[in-house]
Amino acid sequence: MKEATILAIESSCDETAAAVVRNGRIVLSNIISSQIDLHTLYGGVVPEIASRKHMEQINQVVEQALAAAGLGLKDMDAVAVTYGPGLVGALLVGVAHAKALAFAARKPLVGVHHIEGHICANFIENKELEPAFGCLVVSGGHTHLVNVKDYGCYEILGRTRDDAAGEAFDKVARAIGLGYPGGPKIDRISKEGNPHAVEFPRAKIEGARYDFSFSGLKSAVLNYLNHCEMKNIEVNKADLAASFQNAVVDVLVAHAMEAAKEYGFKKLAIAGGVASNSALRGAMKAACAGAGIEFYHPSPVLCTDNAAMIGAAAYYEYMAEHFAGWDLNAVPNLRLGER
Ligand code: KG4
Ligand code: ZN
Repeated sequence: MKEATILAIESSCDETAAAVVRNGRIVLSNIISSQIDLHTLYGGVVPEIASRKHMEQINQVVEQALAAAGLGLKDMDAVAVTYGPGLVGALLVGVAHAKALAFAARKPLVGVHHIEGHICANFIENKELEPAFGCLVVSGGHTHLVNVKDYGCYEILGRTRDDAAGEAFDKVARAIGLGYPGGPKIDRISKEGNPHAVEFPRAKIEGARYDFSFSGLKSAVLNYLNHCEMKNIEVNKADLAASFQNAVVDVLVAHAMEAAKEYGFKKLAIAGGVASNSALRGAMKAACAGAGIEFYHPSPVLCTDNAAMIGAAAYYEYMAEHFAGWDLNAVPNLRLGER
């Protein structure tokens, strides 16, 4: 095995992050500067503000990552950066910074797909995990069911037709008045609610059994709220949140388990911000145990955006000698598996 210590940078949304990762699995440092408090004022991420804040933070975040690892840029074998998908202005800050560092220090540059990073977060705490496996990627911008055939080799089995799972959490939380970011708040309040209080629809898509749709569910929650308001019925927020969460989790787990059966996965993983959801983790754990499937998930801090996962993914790109040129650009709608 080739040894490689990689400085990784992530700035695709609202966290400015840098990490130093050795051989794709050993995290020497993982610094995350979150902008959540700033965007909470507006009820969601404001792209212009995100880019400006990344510019302010990136230098010190990278310096902190190197210092915490006890290493300098000269000790790195490569500099890696998320180049898509994400907010173009936010991505550009990371890409430009990584290019400047790599060029100045004469290090190879590695461009990483953000979703590939989320998937590879599973390698960090599960040193024995190797492809092939199935992975449910559920974040604020993406909902993908992926066949991880090999390192860097992905087949997308299903994707969302409308809202991402995290987006649905955020929109429903806002409608119930829980604030931003909605996912963790719905997770917390649902613990006190009855998940069967309201029966919400579980969308199925004709001819695409692994695709997802969450906009109908979101509308059903909004209709339920309107109905209660018109009839002067007091809404039990915990019951409503728990019932919504249960509907999302049901669909995610059902799709993952069906795919495991069809593709013969012996291992299933989850990734992305929504993978830190306690109900999803519990339901996946139980379903996998029942089916004799090994279940993997990152710690919550490695589920939401971070640069350690980018360093993990970058190692396998580095090993395959997939280096980026100095013309590397941000690609806001980059698809998984594309270069
Ligand atoms: O992966 P991530 O940090 O950013 C993207 O790449 O989109 O995911 C953020 C999303 C947000 O929508 C947030 O509400 C959701 O993950 N999220 C959760 C939980 N923690 C974060 N959703 C449900 N339950 C949680 N505990
Ligand atoms: Zn993400």
